[in-house]
Amino acid sequence: MAQLNSNYLKLKAGYLFPEIARRVKAFTDANPEAAKRLIRCGIGDVTEPLPEAVRAAMHRAIDEMGTREGFHGYGPEQGYEFLRRAIAEHDYRAHGLDVADDEVFVSDGSKCDCGNILDIFGAGNRIAVMDPVYPVYVDTNVMAGHTTEADETGRYGGLVYLECNAANGFVPAIPDEPVDIVYLCYPNNPTGAAATRAQLEAWVAYALKHEAILLFDAAYEAYIQDADVPHSIYEIPGARQCAIEFRSFSKNGGFTGTRCAFTIVPKDLLAKTDTGERRPLHPLWNRRFSTKFNGVSYITQRGAEALYSPEGRAQVAALVELYMGNAAILRAAAAECGLSVFGGTNAPYIWVRGPQGRTSWELFDVVLNEANVVITPGSGFGLAGEGYFRISAFNSRANVEEVARRFKALSW
Ligand code: MLT
Repeated sequence: MAQLNSNYLKLKAGYLFPEIARRVKAFTDANPEAAKRLIRCGIGDVTEPLPEAVRAAMHRAIDEMGTREGFHGYGPEQGYEFLRRAIAEHDYRAHGLDVADDEVFVSDGSKCDCGNILDIFGAGNRIAVMDPVYPVYVDTNVMAGHTTEADETGRYGGLVYLECNAANGFVPAIPDEPVDIVYLCYPNNPTGAAATRAQLEAWVAYALKHEAILLFDAAYEAYIQDADVPHSIYEIPGARQCAIEFRSFSKNGGFTGTRCAFTIVPKDLLAKTDTGERRPLHPLWNRRFSTKFNGVSYITQRGAEALYSPEGRAQVAALVELYMGNAAILRAAAAECGLSVFGGTNAPYIWVRGPQGRTSWELFDVVLNEANVVITPGSGFGLAGEGYFRISAFNSRANVEEVARRFKALSW
């Protein structure tokens, strides 16, 4: 009989968002009237239409595909040169950051890349994750067999948990032990916190000292409002020797359904072989791409390229402005309810501390049952998220204003 990957059996319950969807479905099935007024501020999925510049570019690409000369079959697995160049040029070199076109790997999503990256790392690494954490970092390590079973608190042996809390501004302290791989996500999902330059400098110094690799998830980079918050880990000197950066078109260009993202793997980045030899990771990731992936569709990549055109940039800026305006409304509403509010100023997520003594899932149920609003329970992101909940600012302005009204009417 075939043997299954028993690491999957270690995973706790369902993945957070399907679990929320399951509970919401149970609620809406049982309450069809309330279901009609349901507003979803749970999963961070964009709501506004795809920018005009993207649609126009995709229409053109489809028409090209309808001609013999313009037809595209398999493309380069790592992405078309036009998109790799646009990314390296606009997101990095225009800001004085040294990223070559062929260090950009275009993919179908940052979630996928954050999980797939484990393919190029060995089994013996000590891995650190933040808590609260985007669950993909943890679950993919469980699937890869890098952990023990979870304990009664839901934490897995084999991972180093870096606690993020109100006292440290949701940026974890540098560990006092060496680890080999550290997942950092800034602007942060779920807490909405941003890391300062000094904090990122400390992480890069730590990584260089211990020859660790930072897996830096910058999917929400477009939401940074403060001028002194770094947009890329490569703004920190030395990061090319110790960091991989993940970025996405999902949240800036509205590509959650269209699917396109990219990962930067600098050629300077080394890791050691079983025999202790230092070798670059770039060829391994390149090899993984050409073996396991056939690239993002030409049409989608042309759409992503259009985000860098003057019209595309203006349209992205308008989307960011809308969602950040929503974040301000939601922040103010939660604060008016007497709750402690974090995030939402450099990120589209508001992280709220519920009243003392209420668990995150209790708060989820109250908000769902009484306000008919879907939020995300903080404990779904880890032990340190207990007692908190996350509100996503991805919604229409009308819905956000309605959520604010309902929050204020709730007896917390
Ligand atoms: C979230 O709600 O945390 C995000 O939508 C997750 C994701 O981008 O995969």
